[in-house]
Amino acid sequence: MKDLILVTGGTGYIGSHTTVELMAKGYEVVIIDNLSNSTIEVLDGIEKISGIRPAFEQFDLCDKEKLNAFFSKYKNLKAIIHFAAYKAVGESVDKPLMYYQNNLISLMNLLENMDDFGVPNIVFSSSCTVYGQPDELPVTEKAPIKPAESPYGNTKQIAEEILSDTMKVKPNLNTIALRYFNPIGAHPSTEIGELPRGIPNNLVPFVTQTAAGLREGLKVFGDDYNTPDGSAVRDYINVVDLALAHVIAIDRMLEKKNPANFEFFNLGTGTGSSVLDIVKTFEKVTGKKLNYEIVKRRAGDIEQVWADTSVANEILGWKASRSLDETLLSAWNWEKKLRGIN
Ligand code: WQD
Repeated sequence: MKDLILVTGGTGYIGSHTTVELMAKGYEVVIIDNLSNSTIEVLDGIEKISGIRPAFEQFDLCDKEKLNAFFSKYKNLKAIIHFAAYKAVGESVDKPLMYYQNNLISLMNLLENMDDFGVPNIVFSSSCTVYGQPDELPVTEKAPIKPAESPYGNTKQIAEEILSDTMKVKPNLNTIALRYFNPIGAHPSTEIGELPRGIPNNLVPFVTQTAAGLREGLKVFGDDYNTPDGSAVRDYINVVDLALAHVIAIDRMLEKKNPANFEFFNLGTGTGSSVLDIVKTFEKVTGKKLNYEIVKRRAGDIEQVWADTSVANEILGWKASRSLDETLLSAWNWEKKLRGIN
């Protein structure tokens, strides 16, 4: 009998890649997704890679009745990986209530049902945005949580507090929060990848769409930062490396290796890359010339951040292994597949 894991947001970018790695590890997966930012065809991609089509339930986690019915139906859940949330920083500034309601009510509904139905473990999709602009780099898990730069970032901070406070009074529950840096790239099979709706907010899908001719040119948001080439620095991590960390976190809780019932880890590569580094590396690995222009900074952006990954390396035994070169190439291969470019 395989251990059954619920993946919320499992037809999304990181959720789909994690579902593939969970099934490769021998877990059974059921996905809940409301398809607000993904498509049902992602299940075909997961099946093509894994040879197994995960069970799928389409509804909104904010619907308590439907979620309760779900937990009544799937009685032997061993853990949850909670990805489902809105995640566009700029959109969250324009629509704060939508972000607070969706991202927080969904989590609280899950926690109530976990308690009621005896589902002991949850992995939470958190973000390095909880650190804001760190005072010291690389940023460790001991760095202070800074006031969020956006409602999106604030929902991640508040969610971690909700989890931490709940774990204090629910010793039978376990949480591992994974603080992602910047996830990029696509599965090497090109069967799944990032599928941004409309104009991409994030850098790499904008780069690949520009190279594919869908966008006139890339706007580089600022080259007047206090960084080596003036453009902002981030820690770009391959999405498959990231997915594998989630499987390790699930293993850890199911094998009861977590000494505390609320843990959190930075998931990055430990290396910072600037926007212009990404442009130059993309051009190098693809042979494509990228049309870009330098424009003014984007509101809400921090200058530079990259992870100290020693805690995840030592405690989880996890380390990102895929290079920036192969990761950007995987993003390009996925874009070419999407647009029928050979
Ligand atoms: C990266 C860099 C931009 C687009 C956010 C969230 C984080 C996570 C990833 C969800 C910045 C620059 C971007 C463009 C550019 N979200 N840029 N031109 O803002 O670091 O992180 O997305 O999981 O939680 O905070 O990512 O990819 O938007 O930007 O110059 O067209 O690229 O200014 O320096 P960000 P990003």
